[in-house]
Amino acid sequence: MGETLRQRNLDAAFGQLTDFWSPRVVATTNGQYVKVAKVKGEFVWHAHAGEDEFFLVHRGALTIRYRDRPDVVLREGDFHVVPKGVEHNPFAADECWVVLVEPAQTKHTGETVSDITKSIEQQAVPLG
Ligand code: NI
Repeated sequence: MGETLRQRNLDAAFGQLTDFWSPRVVATTNGQYVKVAKVKGEFVWHAHAGEDEFFLVHRGALTIRYRDRPDVVLREGDFHVVPKGVEHNPFAADECWVVLVEPAQTKHTGETVSDITKSIEQQAVPLG
């Protein structure tokens, strides 16, 4: 993915994203994908049975909605780990830029398939 031997820049990566809710892989590390995503509005309720999911907000604000616990509001610089097996639904009132870290096999909508679902192969297409 051309990620070795040079620095990368988050703002540059986000600048290449054109679609909301369409994460793209920017780095791989020890079987984990680091992804960037622009999000706006409501995602879909889903869970990842076997994988935790790390969220870091780079721009804007994101609410992680839960069914069985209080919502978590993330503002710029805030991060949060969604535990494996816990149903969640991200929501952003306005455009938000999010960094995600999760195992390479993690499906971003879990076992939920909707119009919004992107395959892991689609997410792994290099930016630029
Ligand atoms: Ni998720």
